[in-house]
Amino acid sequence: MSASVSAPRVGVWLIGARGSVATTVVAGCAALTAGLNPPTGLVTETPAFADSGLPALASLVFGGHDTVDCPLPKRAEALAAGGVLPPGLPKAVEAELTAADREIRPGGPGPGDTRGEEELIATFAADIDDFVRRHGLARAVVVNVASTEPAATGTALPPSSLYAAAALRAGCPYVNFTPSTGLHHPALAAPAAMSGLPYAGRDGKTGQTLLRSVLGPMFAQRALAVRAWSGTNLLGGGDGAALADPDAAAAKNAGKERVLADTLGTVPEGEVHIDDVPVLGDWKTAWDHIAFDGFLGARMILQTTWQGCDSALAAPLILDLARLTARAHERGLTGPLYELGFYFKDPVGEGPAALGEQYAALAGFAERLRESSGGGTDEEPGEER
Ligand SMILES: NC(=O)c1ccc[n+]([C@@H]2O[C@H](COP(=O)([O-])OP(=O)(O)OC[C@H]3O[C@@H](n4cnc5c(N)ncnc54)[C@H](O)[C@@H]3O)[C@@H](O)[C@H]2O)c1
Repeated sequence: MSASVSAPRVGVWLIGARGSVATTVVAGCAALTAGLNPPTGLVTETPAFADSGLPALASLVFGGHDTVDCPLPKRAEALAAGGVLPPGLPKAVEAELTAADREIRPGGPGPGDTRGEEELIATFAADIDDFVRRHGLARAVVVNVASTEPAATGTALPPSSLYAAAALRAGCPYVNFTPSTGLHHPALAAPAAMSGLPYAGRDGKTGQTLLRSVLGPMFAQRALAVRAWSGTNLLGGGDGAALADPDAAAAKNAGKERVLADTLGTVPEGEVHIDDVPVLGDWKTAWDHIAFDGFLGARMILQTTWQGCDSALAAPLILDLARLTARAHERGLTGPLYELGFYFKDPVGEGPAALGEQYAALAGFAERLRESSGGGTDEEPGEER
């Protein structure tokens, strides 16, 4: 990467900062910076992104909000005990985990919280402002990695939207790595458009949907007729527990099904189920069963089984997204960053749904970011899409 360690530092403000994904992000960034592990899974460390002017991993400073108070070093020990982090890593990066832990502020609304929406937004925005100011950061990206909430109903802002509003108020680019409403709330459409900030989302594409975005185009391009596509996910951890709520699971599954509609051009029969299996912890098993017709109506089946460590799949994507969105902000890009659809199940803006095309769009974006690397803020008006 061309950015040097002495370059201005960039904040990454994690909503859900004590969760599995957030803890893996902080521990992982420290491990890579210290040269303890290679950057496997980090797309922004591949040659296509060299000289795009992305902030160096060593320049990232972490903070965030959470509603629980388990210290990050302890959370990291639990993840190491579960095999998510390498044994010994929490001790090796304890100083970085402790530093990030000091920057985590109480989230909300908590049970019995009497604060209204405006007070919560103002408090969250002040926390982010304070973080940016105390560390002398060039900018901070707000990334939502909090528990998935049920789809919003009515006019009240759900917690994810209170944080998204706070990000706008603090002048920060925003990334929604979850299916929660975030910036998608109708009440935030006008403030988002007027903010002049770039944003990306929704819901990280790390496993089953990643495969669907590759296989869907394959069936379409080979003119094979998909008759049914069914999926089951077994997972534990905090995400498994949150998704045991049928309303939260419905919000998640909508994104998984969108990729099939977009790549196949039709919605095949079949459903996606998510089962909470606590003993699996962070290890997810995703099984897909695809019934399709070939030449002369020959009936065939493809089955795939994906066994992934969820936080290890998600964490490098968060680092990629924070760096890309920070650089987009530095370049003066605004509005939905559809070129980051590569990373999401339900991407903002109009963009392709097939992974290959999404990667091409991302590579083009890397090129565009590169065009002005070396200069400071490069205002480029009219980037709203
Ligand atoms: N592969 C993946 O891991 C993956 C992929 C796509 C999306 N996601 C999404 O990322 C999110 C995080 O996943 P995880 O495994 O880290 O879950 P987790 O349960 O370990 O962590 C979620 C954290 O959010 C916190 N939280 C809940 N409500 C909050 C609020 N109102 N304010 C602030 N913090 C709050 C919780 O206390 C917890 O620490 C989930 O929404 C998940 O669906 C994960």
